[in-house]
Amino acid sequence: MILSHERKYEPMPSPTKVAVVTGGGGAFGSAIAARLSSDGFKVAVTDANPTRAAEAAALIPGAFACTLDVTDDKSVGEAMAWIAERTGRIDTVVNNAGVAPPGGMRTTELEDFDRTLSINLRGAYLVTSAAMEWLAHSGSEGRVIMIGSRTWLSGGNPAYTASKAGIVGLCRTVAQEIAATGGTCNVVAPGPVNTGFVDGMGMGETRESNFERYAAQTPLQRVATPADVAAATSFFAGQDSSFITGEVLHVAGGLQLAPRL
Ligand SMILES: NC(=O)c1ccc[n+]([C@@H]2O[C@H](COP(=O)([O-])OP(=O)(O)OC[C@H]3O[C@@H](n4cnc5c(N)ncnc54)[C@H](O)[C@@H]3O)[C@@H](O)[C@H]2O)c1
Repeated sequence: MILSHERKYEPMPSPTKVAVVTGGGGAFGSAIAARLSSDGFKVAVTDANPTRAAEAAALIPGAFACTLDVTDDKSVGEAMAWIAERTGRIDTVVNNAGVAPPGGMRTTELEDFDRTLSINLRGAYLVTSAAMEWLAHSGSEGRVIMIGSRTWLSGGNPAYTASKAGIVGLCRTVAQEIAATGGTCNVVAPGPVNTGFVDGMGMGETRESNFERYAAQTPLQRVATPADVAAATSFFAGQDSSFITGEVLHVAGGLQLAPRL
């Protein structure tokens, strides 16, 4: 018989499911966090930039901010432990933090290549592996969602496309492992979205004229919005997708397709 005073103390799990969003202070991250909050999640809005995280969390009901640099394993471990201690559970992880450098095969700086892989791919690995134990406790509620890019199919900057192709491989491995406890892992792969993210890519023309051109090249004749990306993420975080795992869902209006001949 176990006497009550002999029981090991464990934090009382929150009755509300908890989602962790990386890069949560950015355009997609804040839209995803707001959408998951309206779906009923308590959301940890994490970002390497504490001000961005705090400003985004302040606008989302029930959300809280947390500083988390996905390139730093110590930061990842401490942030995950702090979130789990505060809430008693982690049910969904959205690996959204990402950067895109300028350049092609002959012009990408090696430093940019390494930094991009470190944030976009290695970061998703660090965050997901740190959360696996908590996700396992969630059983069939455990969800990992990777924000990829349609460039994994179409090509683009070498570091960026390699990182986003790598995300698909990582997702398929996570999907195999997390299935043991009933959870899922999937990739949301958007087309170009008019956010500050694209400013680092050195697009040449003005941002507006670039996006007009992207919209004209897209079969559905517009570019994606953060709300489109948040809706797809919500689908993978919810019950309607519980038998879908290891998949890539393009949110690109058909831009991932080959041009019609
Ligand atoms: N905007 C697009 O056109 C587009 C298209 C397809 C995919 N994506 C992907 O969507 C994701 C988000 O893009 P966005 O448009 O919201 O970009 P954004 O620049 O608005 O937001 C990115 C956020 O990531 C944070 N961040 C950067 N380095 C970090 C680190 N080391 N650790 C934690 N956080 C860090 C930034 O502070 C920022 O808040 C990225 O993974 C990107 O590759 C964007």
